[in-house]
Amino acid sequence: MTQPTPRVLSGVQPTGNLHLGNYLGAIRNFVGLQQTHECLYCVVDMHAITVFQDPAELAANTREVAAAFIAAGVDPKSHIVFNQAQVLQHAELAWVLNCVARMGWLNRMTQFKEKAGKDREKASVGLYVYPNLMAADILLYKATHVPVGEDQKQHLELARDIAQKFNNDFNAADFFPQPEPLILGDATRVMSLRDGSKKMSKSDPSDLSRITMSDQADDIAKKIRKAKTDPDALPETVAGLEGRPEAANLLGIFAALSDKPLAEVVTGFAGKQFSDLKTDLADLAIEKIGPIGAEMKRLNEDPATIDAILADGAERARAIAEPIMGEVRKLVGFLGN
Ligand code: TRP
Repeated sequence: MTQPTPRVLSGVQPTGNLHLGNYLGAIRNFVGLQQTHECLYCVVDMHAITVFQDPAELAANTREVAAAFIAAGVDPKSHIVFNQAQVLQHAELAWVLNCVARMGWLNRMTQFKEKAGKDREKASVGLYVYPNLMAADILLYKATHVPVGEDQKQHLELARDIAQKFNNDFNAADFFPQPEPLILGDATRVMSLRDGSKKMSKSDPSDLSRITMSDQADDIAKKIRKAKTDPDALPETVAGLEGRPEAANLLGIFAALSDKPLAEVVTGFAGKQFSDLKTDLADLAIEKIGPIGAEMKRLNEDPATIDAILADGAERARAIAEPIMGEVRKLVGFLGN
């Protein structure tokens, strides 16, 4: 069996309020992969509308995520940055995969259960088949590696099952490669600054719970100063973080932002007070996030440039996707190509 070329694909939803969790858990990891892989980074606007989005906000948020990729260091010339809806083959392949995936597989998806909540009857059909569209994003480019957060591992497993069933059903051994998850870094799970047991989230009613990518230096400092703590001094070892979610979160963020192993950061703050950690963390966060936020702001003031980058990315994405989609149509038995 020949090894497929290493190709990375990942997606980020344009749902607004891009925050430190999105940056440390996803976008930051995209940058390093550019050295070793061919990368496609997709703003998944079609995923976003599985929950209603105000159209003007969706457009603005799509540009914002693209700006964040670029401000963080993704190079849209050497790699591909685009929005999903401009490459129609995503929708086309998703339909075929809707017919490959089984209801029983989707019924196991924990994210659907969480997002649909108690009143499942009222969830959109799109929300239910969301993982099939995600599988299409990946398989459309025969991507081999997918940087994702922990919460997306189950969807990636599903993409692997779909790839295999497609290959079996259509007698095309190895047609779709099995995509591998890439889960990078220590602090891939950034928690709320107000409650260390909840994920940092765009929809948390408290603004103090998250640092957004557009926060100014004084906001960043204030949110870290007000972050929840516990009464004890900081622990001597990583094991000492057990049962101390706020300490774990702040030290984890420090480790991720400073690109150091958590153990080293814990040792550095061993026995110190939260206030010492907060002072250093605020300086570090302002140093690392401030310039990205400023560059995002500059790009957001120039939507024509972002739109041109997305159009160019979409064109190059289509050039990869269309031949693969052509093979899919043939395998399935669709006439016309
Ligand atoms: N579902 C992912 C999330 O919410 C976003 C996503 C869509 C994605 N398509 C993808 C991630 C393809 C990786 C690969 O985080």
